[in-house]
Order: sequence, then C-alpha cells, then structure tokens
Amino acid sequence: MSFIEVTSPQFEVVKSMESFVAQNLSSLLKSVDENWQPTDLLPDMTADDWREQITEFRRRAKSLTDEVLVVLVGDMVTEEALPSYQTWLNRFGGINDPTGDSDSAWARWSRGWTSEENRHGDLLNKYLYLTGRVDMHSVETTVQHLINNGFNTNSGNDPYLGFIYTSFQERATKISHRNVGILAKKCGDEHLHKICGLIAGDEARHEKAYKLFMSKVFEIDPKNAVTAFAQMMKNKVTMPASLMTDGKDVDLFSKFSNVAQRIGVYTAKDYASIIASLVDEWKVESLTGLSDASQKAQDYLCTLAVRYERLADRMKITGNSRFSWIFDREIVLDTPKISLV
Ligand SMILES: [Fe+2]
Ligand SMILES: [Fe+2]
Repeated sequence: MSFIEVTSPQFEVVKSMESFVAQNLSSLLKSVDENWQPTDLLPDMTADDWREQITEFRRRAKSLTDEVLVVLVGDMVTEEALPSYQTWLNRFGGINDPTGDSDSAWARWSRGWTSEENRHGDLLNKYLYLTGRVDMHSVETTVQHLINNGFNTNSGNDPYLGFIYTSFQERATKISHRNVGILAKKCGDEHLHKICGLIAGDEARHEKAYKLFMSKVFEIDPKNAVTAFAQMMKNKVTMPASLMTDGKDVDLFSKFSNVAQRIGVYTAKDYASIIASLVDEWKVESLTGLSDASQKAQDYLCTLAVRYERLADRMKITGNSRFSWIFDREIVLDTPKISLV
C-alpha cells in the first residue's frame, strides 16, 4: 500500500534528519522498563493495609488550598487531552507515523513521546479522584469537552512551527508542574510534591528533545527556521487547553489561567522567560547570511522577551472566580491563601 506524500522544503529538511533523530532517541526517551508508572505513586490497593494507606493519602491531600486544587485540575485536564496532541503531531509533514506502527525514527519518537505523556494525565487523574477533594464529574466533563472542542495552534502541517510550539509548551508545562509541586509541599503534601516533580522531569526531557530537533533545523535551514519562530510568536502561543469548558462556564480557561498567574504557577513573566531561553538556545542573535525577511524576524525575536517582561510588570490579576471543579467555591484572587509571588 502506498501513501500520498506532500513535499515542501520543510518536509525535506525534517526527513533528512531521520538518522540524527535515530541516534538521539535513546537519550531523549526512557525505555518503558525505566519509566515510573502511576501505580508506583498511589496507594497500593492490593496491600493488606490499603485502608491505612488511603487514610494517610487523604490526610495529606486535605492540606491543599482551593487555589492549588484548581491549578492541579487545570494541569490534569490539559494532560488528559493527549488524544488531540497526538493527532496534531501526526498532522505535520515529514515527521508523522504513516502506518501507525512505522519503524521510522520520527514515528518511534511520536509514539514514545505519547506513551510517556499518557502517564501524566493518568497519574494526576487517579490522584485527584482518590483525594475526594474535587468534583470529579465536573472535571471529567471538562476533559470530554476539551477533547471534543479540539486544539488549534495555527501551525498547519509545518513541522518547524510544530517543533517551536512543542519546545515552548514542554518548557511551560515543566514550569507549571514544578511550581504546583512547590506549592503542594508548602501546603504539607510532600507526596504531591514528588508526583509533580516526576512529571516535570519528563517534561524537561521532552523539552530537551524538541529544542534539539529545532536546533538541527536552525543548522540546516536558518532562514526558514527563524521566520517560523517569529511567525509562531506573532500568532502567540495558544495554550493547549484554551478550549476547555465544564459545559457551563465558557471562560473556564481564562479563569484557571488567572489563578495560575496569581499564585505564580505559570505567569506572564514565565512566557517572557521562555521566549528568552529559546532565542538563546537557538542562538538567534548570531545567525548570519539571512535574507531581508529572515533578518526582520531575527530583529523582532531579539527584543521580544524584554517587551513581554515590561508588559508582565504592568499586569495585575484581581477579581473572584467560582469553579465547579471545587463545588462552586469562590477563589478571591486579591488575597490568595497561598502563592509563590
Ligand atoms: Fe505532560
Ligand atoms: Fe509534555
């Protein structure tokens, strides 16, 4: 059976990277045997003392504030929409999995990445269910709506835009999980701190992978790489769960991100710092031999982080929001019970 393949210079570049990806795959993905599994971090329901384990688990989770619960639910919902992300990844030309079990390095990366990510939503979902602290029906409804509503990053099927997006987003999720972990520890749930740290560790490895792929693209095709980077930033990086709703609240995503911003889990300053780190990683400032258009993109990118930082300094998040996830309780953003900022 043959497949119709669309070709473009971008597709040819990423196809030429197959052997590079193959060489790096073993350091970018862990083997299944090396990976932790959700059950390793949850009460052992097969143990004689499972009741005691559950009691201790719930005692720790009782210390979490409403703000932490809301950001944790938002992060879990984001992870649980993984079917949308795998579909999205397979839409990019040159890096997809044409048969579903293809042996190509790109296809192995795509399935390996998905299989690692799948553990994140699984673990957070079971964690939240067992705490008894959130309205799981509402949370599950939100997951279903999000997958149903989809995910659009304005990247079409251009793999360069895909790598830039994922480099940005893996770093963003790493920051977010890590900060939720720090807050969990502050509240008194050391165990959730460990869970979030492990997930953040996976995200860090994935970030490294996508940045490496894009570094190679910058090496082979700097003009189109820098133009794509500027294009993604001009469109702004759409958050993966921006189309979430619980069926009643269409502003749910912005309310969730306001809480995350207010308590310092993921902020406008983080957005600026991610841009700065990617500009640095891909040595955008020192690129030479560019065309007029790509030079403009370079200039735009080199001052972008500073402009976002200034905007972030002026931002002030206030107001109150109710969340069905926590039984319609209200979060007062002016005076959060816990915060990193
Ligand atoms: Fe994840
Ligand atoms: Fe991720």
